[in-house]
Amino acid sequence: MRGTEAWAPGKLILFGEHAVVYGRPAIAVPVHQVQARARVSVGPPGQGCVVHAVDLGETVRIAQAPEDHPLALAVRLALKALALEPAPDWTIQITSTIPVAGGMGSGAAVSAALIRALFRQAGQEPDPECLSRLVYQVERIHHGTPSGIDNTVIAHERPIWFVRGQPPEPFDPSRPFTLVIADSGIPSPTRETVAHVRQRWQQAPEHYEALFDAVGAIVYAARGAMETGQIEALGPLMDRNQALLRRLGVSAPELERLLDAAREAGALGGKLSGGGRGGNVVALVYPEDAPRVCAALERAGARHTWITTPGRGARPEEPLSPDPTP
Ligand code: MEV
Repeated sequence: MRGTEAWAPGKLILFGEHAVVYGRPAIAVPVHQVQARARVSVGPPGQGCVVHAVDLGETVRIAQAPEDHPLALAVRLALKALALEPAPDWTIQITSTIPVAGGMGSGAAVSAALIRALFRQAGQEPDPECLSRLVYQVERIHHGTPSGIDNTVIAHERPIWFVRGQPPEPFDPSRPFTLVIADSGIPSPTRETVAHVRQRWQQAPEHYEALFDAVGAIVYAARGAMETGQIEALGPLMDRNQALLRRLGVSAPELERLLDAAREAGALGGKLSGGGRGGNVVALVYPEDAPRVCAALERAGARHTWITTPGRGARPEEPLSPDPTP
């Protein structure tokens, strides 16, 4: 059989990170400008499944890998779901342009691309729920008690309204809008920031529940603004979400500096995205201001910037043309 290929996008949490772990809603969008790819080829005979993580220079022989190796677990879960036993002799190459530990879902995207490629090699296509469920099991190794939002948005590849324990609701904003994402270059240890918030919540549950409620109210307002096309309203909502993330203790001076630079260059609002302490920030911009905001963010220390337009299904192959609206 010929080899197959699959890819999965990165993700961005637009509103509601951390509070989502405590049952409040959150909104996440796929980021197609970065992606993980998996390519499966047949052979060599007698080796079972072997994964080459090209960017990490790592080779993982599935039969010998430890139980909790994320790549090995992803392969084992896929083979089990496909009832492929004994494991076929397949070689899988993984590449990714998603910053590792950058808050853009690199682990979940690698697992999704890998599992999807194995399904395709077996002549099947996993539906988004099945893919999301399998990726979630791998995410638990990375993050301990993840809410499940990362695997969900990456598997569905659409903007998602997410409440833990409920079926996710993919939805499309009524008007596209333009975001600038900046990677701070500081690793974002999601497991640690989630544990930090949990510790604080255990010490003062009422205080933190009130903060989570305030985040939840912003997420509802953001969904309303996206559905009614009041895109400009998202900027101040991002600023308010960021103020609450600061109070949760997950911001960092470097992230605040990036956000100040983005606002000074014309962004309508912004926030950190994901676990915080490092990782990325996201800012809402008018399309014509995006290059200027990117340049300002890079001058302020961003390692990399991206322009993305949720609600448009924009893929990396498609050039992003200017929008008439933010
Ligand atoms: C991480 O991308 C988002 C957090 O809310 C953790 C989670 O939802 O599992 C910080």
